[in-house]
Amino acid sequence: MKKVILAYSGGLDTSCCVQWLRDKGFKVICFSADLGSEFSPQDLRKRAKQSGAEKIYIADLKKEFASSYILPAFFAHALYEKKYVLSTALGRPLIAKYLVDIAHKERAGYVAHGCSGKGNDQVRIDISVNILDPKLKIIAPLREWELNSREEEIQYARKNKIPIKASAEKIYSIDKNIWGLSVEAGILEDVSQPPPLDSYVWVKPPHKAKNKGVTVTLEFSKGVPVKLNSRRLNLVDLIKRLNKIGADCGIGRTDLIEDRTVGIKSREIYEAPAAWILYTAKQELENLVFDRRLLRLREMLSSYYADLVYQGFWFSRPKQALDSFFADLAKDLNGKVSLKLYRGNIIIDGRQAKKSLYKKELATYSEGDLFNPRWAEGFIKLWGLPYSVK
Ligand code: ARG
Repeated sequence: MKKVILAYSGGLDTSCCVQWLRDKGFKVICFSADLGSEFSPQDLRKRAKQSGAEKIYIADLKKEFASSYILPAFFAHALYEKKYVLSTALGRPLIAKYLVDIAHKERAGYVAHGCSGKGNDQVRIDISVNILDPKLKIIAPLREWELNSREEEIQYARKNKIPIKASAEKIYSIDKNIWGLSVEAGILEDVSQPPPLDSYVWVKPPHKAKNKGVTVTLEFSKGVPVKLNSRRLNLVDLIKRLNKIGADCGIGRTDLIEDRTVGIKSREIYEAPAAWILYTAKQELENLVFDRRLLRLREMLSSYYADLVYQGFWFSRPKQALDSFFADLAKDLNGKVSLKLYRGNIIIDGRQAKKSLYKKELATYSEGDLFNPRWAEGFIKLWGLPYSVK
């Protein structure tokens, strides 16, 4: 019998996928990755069985997600269209990698996923699988089946005795992991309107946020955030703590009209409190440590890197080459940044870095100035020379 490894979330789509693949003559083995979605393994196991899966693999991948996916993207300062920290996008290649590994272990010739035919995630998973093992065949039931709406899926599920959670009727489509949360669909599709209050998941709307604000101090070692308020934490715990603190202060929500890989413009709301706090702190360190040329270069390559990740090229050579570049830059980021979090704002309270290029003796307007203003005159003449030749 043909075997397929299905990326399984326990939701309506992937539960229907199990049945649909069985109808096509497959033995279905599910794989669920816990990247911080807080699902219960017992529940997943039960649901997968009830939906007709042969077996299910469940893996807590939060650590690997943080160290090998979030961290490189953080070093790269990756932001898609200036507003999206790529939380969903970063999870997909990791899921693809495990699909391929399990397929090898199970000697399966097929992998499958429940991504829709107009989204980005199908692109990310398919390209990743193709890079990692071009011989594996990929099935995306949502691109092929006849179920054209959520209602039809629910009917199909009822007919086939597939368990439906109460949340199947949820108004939004939400993807969640430790790096962030993506919310779309429903009323959010009306881009002329603000997101309603019920679309806030982690983050408090600023008017309901802590009214005094909170100050946090982050310490970085070689670009890695290692301490929060003087307490050493591993990356997963630090991100989780910071998500909670930031969310309570209304930090980290963005509303983005984005350019999908397939050419559609869509609207997504993102919540990523920890990521925005960490990006802001790291930027402060960079401003102290990198000279202007390095800053501009980093910025140019960051947006290129973000495009690569967004568009599905995580395992590609250009992305790997850029990782080496950004990891090299990160080595110089050692220091501390204090930030005040106040009703959706991140305010810089102070920064210090070991390799700081800021020298008070050069910048000062007070006593002890080492900058020689006589150098300036000749410099300015040459700097503007091309435009003063008449
Ligand atoms: N637009 C985001 C991306 O392409 C998130 C996609 C999933 N969103 C969701 N609400 N399920 O990475």
